[in-house]
Amino acid sequence: SPDYETCPESDLGEIAFIGRSNVGKSSLINYLTNSEGLAKTSSKPGHTTMINFFLINNAWSIVDLPGYGYARRSKEDRERFHGFVSDYLLGRRNLICVFILIDSRIPPQELDLDYVEWIVSCRIPFALVFTKTDKIKPTPRKQNIEKFAAALAERCSGTPKIFASSTKNKTDRFDLLDFIEAALSTRS
Ligand code: GTP
Ligand code: MG
Repeated sequence: SPDYETCPESDLGEIAFIGRSNVGKSSLINYLTNSEGLAKTSSKPGHTTMINFFLINNAWSIVDLPGYGYARRSKEDRERFHGFVSDYLLGRRNLICVFILIDSRIPPQELDLDYVEWIVSCRIPFALVFTKTDKIKPTPRKQNIEKFAAALAERCSGTPKIFASSTKNKTDRFDLLDFIEAALSTRS
């Protein structure tokens, strides 16, 4: 769907993926579904530009969203994407949970903290996924994740569920799938 208004009507539970452009949303979707090429990925940021629905087992849907924070995109486009992604996250009644993806290689970024804070303030159920863990050593990765959690704790209450993933090393797939299964089952 190129905007919120054209999203297909559905009663099935939806699990959405958001995060900074190029953080690995589409790659993670392919990894979780074990189907390379299902969601379109690219080494260049700004690749996903629509709300993409993937129906899973006729039972629930994965939703791939355009990333935020791609500086080389026009201000007009950035605002338009932000508008329809926000409309989706706020308005979609069958949205069960949004995974917010964060690059595990870098220290906490204002943009990501602002985004998570906004999701919390809107009471949208969410979990964090720290991506590309194959590209950083365990100790600095752990530090980045801990620093992010600490910075978030200063802004909002609650302890978010945190996952880490590497689509390259193929780790933690079942942790995420188990969480999704449990989240979906709260609905039926
Ligand atoms: P937009 O659609 O532009 O917002 O990006 P996206 O978040 O969907 O990112 P995408 O999945 O297209 O991945 C961006 C780049 O990161 C691609 O070159 C991927 O191959 C790479 N990538 C994604 N996940 C991983 C990972 O776990 N490890 C490594 N090494 N690379 C990854
Ligand atoms: Mg994408």
